[in-house]
Amino acid sequence: MSIRQLTDALSRPIRDLRLSVTDRCNFRCAYCMPKELFGDDYAFMPRAELLTFEEMSRLVSLFTGLGVQKVRLTGGEPLLRKNLDELVKEIHTIPGVQDIGLTTNGLLLGQHAEALYHAGLRRLNISLDALTPSIFGQLNGRGVQPHHILHQIDYARSLGYRIKINMVVQKGVNEDEILPMAEYFRTRGITLRFIEFMDAGSGNGWSYEKVVTQAEILQQLQSRYELVPSKHTIYGEVANYYRYHGTDTEVGFITSVSNSFCSSCTRARLSSDGKLYTCLFATSGYDLRQLLRGGADDEELQDIIADIWEHRTDRYSDLRTAHTASSCRRIGMSYIGG
Ligand code: GTP
Ligand code: 5AD
Ligand code: SF4
Ligand code: SF4
Repeated sequence: MSIRQLTDALSRPIRDLRLSVTDRCNFRCAYCMPKELFGDDYAFMPRAELLTFEEMSRLVSLFTGLGVQKVRLTGGEPLLRKNLDELVKEIHTIPGVQDIGLTTNGLLLGQHAEALYHAGLRRLNISLDALTPSIFGQLNGRGVQPHHILHQIDYARSLGYRIKINMVVQKGVNEDEILPMAEYFRTRGITLRFIEFMDAGSGNGWSYEKVVTQAEILQQLQSRYELVPSKHTIYGEVANYYRYHGTDTEVGFITSVSNSFCSSCTRARLSSDGKLYTCLFATSGYDLRQLLRGGADDEELQDIIADIWEHRTDRYSDLRTAHTASSCRRIGMSYIGG
């Protein structure tokens, strides 16, 4: 298949596809799936509504024909999707896919990491917001203790995975965890990325006051370490990096609030029920599943996707104000995979 290199209305190419494979999660992080909104009676997507692996692989092939090179599997918690290794195996063989990653809370890696590695997965981004048991237990909403996740991180490393840790920082919640987390992962040579708390979904209690910015985090880190800015930042990457002086170990920042990166945003998102979103903060998506199941052929599907991307003007984080944050209805992070 020949590759058309699409660009959107702001000249941004399409490079990454974030594929949510389930809207379920075994955690209840308050900033993503607050318990009050995602209680025992919450209606998750019925099985029949989820894209099958065959449908996902077909879409990935079509997206690579339009310029996508990187695929990231997300959820909810992607490891809750049965036989995920089969999907990885299929995506791994699609021409044009240069990189496959998985974003996970890590809890189920013990059961799945080996099969996924054999299927061709090499990169894991693992979320961990604190090392203090009471704080982490509270943050994940399920009382899961940090040593369980740390153990899974060690295990995944021993299998050969390249790993990055994601830590969402919230003022007055886990700011005191910044230095202990930095020290823990620095000594192990693992990249830790601090993520500014975002106003994703509705009902996660976000306000500007609760954001800890890169500048504030850097100040804490620089009180203890000498940091050297890294030059390797790749076009379209969400994080900017520093290196601990005298080591190869990096620490990163994802600054959607204090320094937005929409101008180089190359990411498309597909929900587990097959809707295409062109921004994490979108209010609506385009139903590709309906077309797939209605018998659309490859060319028809590609033309529709191309048309959506070419008209794309999203730049929510560039335009964020206290007003947009409190007034816009947005899809949830757990539904679209962050
Ligand atoms: P790699 O760079 O491939 O390792 O992955 P990634 O950082 O793109 O993916 P990951 O799922 O680890 O996301 C890290 C954080 O960045 C999460 O909090 C995401 O919600 C956030 N993020 C990822 N893409 C975007 C984006 O396009 N816009 C915004 N605002 N945040 C994003
Ligand atoms: N703000 C910032 N990051 C978030 N994540 C989930 N919700 C938010 C939010 N409101 C992160 C998770 C995970 C990634 C997929 O997105 O912690 O690392
Ligand atoms: Fe689950 Fe990740 Fe959302 Fe936490 S942030 S509730 S682990 S999907
Ligand atoms: Fe891309 Fe939207 Fe995030 Fe901006 S806010 S970087 S346009 S996903």
